[in-house]
Amino acid sequence: MRPARTIAEQLERASWIRRMFEEGARLKAERGAENVFDFTLGNPDCDPPPGVLEALRAAAGENRAGVHGYMPNGGFPEVRAAVARHLAATTGLPFDPEDVFMTVGSSGAINVLLKSILDPGDEVIVLMPCFSEYPFYVQNHAGRMVAVETDERFLPVVGRIAAAITPRTRAIILNSPNNPTGRVYPAPLLTELEALLARLGQPIAVISDEPYKPLVFDGVRQPETAAIVTNCAIANSWSKVFAIAGERIGYLALSPRMEGRESLRGACTFNNRILGFINAPALWQRVAARCLGVGPELEGYRRKRDLLCGALTRMGYDAPKPEGTFYLFPRSPIPDDVAFVRLLAREGVLGVPGRGFGRSGYFRLSLTVPMSVVERSLPGFERAIGRCRQ
Ligand SMILES: Cc1ncc(COP(=O)(O)O)c(C=O)c1O
Repeated sequence: MRPARTIAEQLERASWIRRMFEEGARLKAERGAENVFDFTLGNPDCDPPPGVLEALRAAAGENRAGVHGYMPNGGFPEVRAAVARHLAATTGLPFDPEDVFMTVGSSGAINVLLKSILDPGDEVIVLMPCFSEYPFYVQNHAGRMVAVETDERFLPVVGRIAAAITPRTRAIILNSPNNPTGRVYPAPLLTELEALLARLGQPIAVISDEPYKPLVFDGVRQPETAAIVTNCAIANSWSKVFAIAGERIGYLALSPRMEGRESLRGACTFNNRILGFINAPALWQRVAARCLGVGPELEGYRRKRDLLCGALTRMGYDAPKPEGTFYLFPRSPIPDDVAFVRLLAREGVLGVPGRGFGRSGYFRLSLTVPMSVVERSLPGFERAIGRCRQ
């Protein structure tokens, strides 16, 4: 049996992170794991915050009837109510628990929503560079991705979005703080986008993918997209902020201002089921509901960001400090980002070429490694840029 042609093609396109991962495994076997500095995966290395571990112990000790069984496909009613209350407090909007769906991560949330709104050939605008899985999520539901380039500072350009909208446009995916660039989209930009959508009057869902929302530095704050954009659906998860990416817990929340949200409710509930998730993990729903006020461990990431950006800049890299997330997206010292990432790997440092995110000429580094790895990786970065100058 061979894989379907579509999947074979997708595998080929999706292979950058996987290739670097395999390259890393090969280098580690050859040189010893302690001599390879792997910045490829956005998989937090720190422990979950103590409050989350306490909540996990409390939830695991709960012995009520039904806590381990199926529940309504959208999640435990009391958990959905807690998330709705939390969203009401942060956005100032009266989120309805019926419009909150507990999902298998933010990726589950985006897939549930796209499946709920796309007919074959419907279009989804994605701002480039982007999280490398978005194109596949759109294709999962027979949609057509329309890529719109951000500007040279990786901020969306509303005029370019306007030019890309057609009668088939059903959604725009926004991701701020952004993977891979670390940019936070400022409120005036979201206001400008809202004005465009209001002018067009066409029902276009703005999917605000927010798994890095509290991971922001230097007093920067991620604006509440739902408070600014009317037709907003929030996709969120605790994978990154609580360092629990393997536990698979997140949610989808439709704004109380979203047009037609009542008719979408049934579709989202049904799709959470038939995409094969059935429901989000029961134990982690109950943990998440207890931890809505818990924040991430920011200081460690900030220190690693400052050390690496400072050192790279001194070496001659163009490596601006990200405002949020735990990613750096420096410019490749040579135009061919794949060639540069290979050169870097020969020096024992692993990153992902920008073209894996739809923007050549850059590379992504994830700070989800111990500080000692950042420190010991620096000579490798220095040798790599030195070779580019030879
Ligand atoms: C922008 C963005 N969205 C969604 C996801 C999916 O995360 P999860 O499904 O674990 O919430 C990721 C993971 O890297 C991401 O970077």
